[in-house]
Amino acid sequence: MTIRSRIIGVGGYLPERVVTNAELAARVDTSDEWIIERTGIRQRHVAAEGQKTSDLAIAAARKALAHAGLSGADLDLIVVATATPDNTFPATATRVQAALGMTGGFAFDVQAVCSGFIFALSTADNFVKSGQVKTALVIGAETFSRILDWEDRGTCVLFGDGAGAVVLRAEDGRGTNQDNGILSTHLHSDGRHYDLLHVDGGPSSTQTVGHLRMEGREVFRHAVSNLAAVVDEALSHNGLSAQNLDWLVPHQANKRILEGTARKLHLSPDRVVMTVDRHANTSAASVPLALSEAVGDGRIKSGDLVLLEAMGGGFTWGAALVRM
Ligand code: ACO
Repeated sequence: MTIRSRIIGVGGYLPERVVTNAELAARVDTSDEWIIERTGIRQRHVAAEGQKTSDLAIAAARKALAHAGLSGADLDLIVVATATPDNTFPATATRVQAALGMTGGFAFDVQAVCSGFIFALSTADNFVKSGQVKTALVIGAETFSRILDWEDRGTCVLFGDGAGAVVLRAEDGRGTNQDNGILSTHLHSDGRHYDLLHVDGGPSSTQTVGHLRMEGREVFRHAVSNLAAVVDEALSHNGLSAQNLDWLVPHQANKRILEGTARKLHLSPDRVVMTVDRHANTSAASVPLALSEAVGDGRIKSGDLVLLEAMGGGFTWGAALVRM
């Protein structure tokens, strides 16, 4: 018998306020047509004044716990993936821990920007597989609206705020690719590309929060090739091919990146969960938000083979193959 982490609950939360492309076009030199054609984005959700990353994370976490039929007291571990924490420290995860009434175990943050959820999922999965943790909550939560330069049309149209969460529970498996649970995770980074997608501030560099800066075309180019490679790696590691996949749940950065990855896999677009049109890029929140939407509306069912993948600043990128 081998221990597997099974996803037993999912949940997502989006702030109430919706900002349309037309509203952005009134602010910077852009248009609804340009944004839709280049990115597929039609709108994004933006946190209310005073609404923090932890507020979004807690709302998503409560839904995931309710879906799993558990409470905060049942958790041994919380990992929050975020690049937009409430404060430099303590970890946003500890605020979530207190709000959920979890007094034992431990909680910490993981930072891998848009790949953060995959990195957090992999971290929690390894704690479960090692036997150190039985029940874990993994959250991706972001308020990118706080670090955008709202004068920069090249970036301000691309991102939104939100949070998504999953609950993992240790279960016995036979160690085959038919087991329910996380089959494998695959993580990568290449720090040579630090400057292509970064925030130009921080406590030890400028003592300011800073704004997101991006070489969009370069990021796009690396995203397509890195994502295709890590998807192949995850499938071949498990002796599976894209034909075995029921669903691809990709990081939601740009409709053209999603479609490019699906084409490389010869996967029909109706097997790809897409939320980027309504959520824009919510960084670490995008994969769990898309997963919870597709589980919630009944598209993803128990036993389905689902591939999660993401790429973000650093660069960082990764994938997780999951049998639901
Ligand atoms: N509205 C109108 N015009 C714009 C806008 C805008 N919002 N933004 C840029 N432009 C202009 C540029 O100024 C440029 O004009 P110029 O030719 O006069 O200089 C022109 O459009 C073309 O700009 P490009 O940057 O070459 O346009 P591109 O087709 O590459 O699309 C985009 C830009 C959408 C940012 C694309 O490069 C992209 O999606 N890159 C990936 C970025 C990404 O997703 N990052 C997220 C984090 S990492 C990840 O999640 C994968």
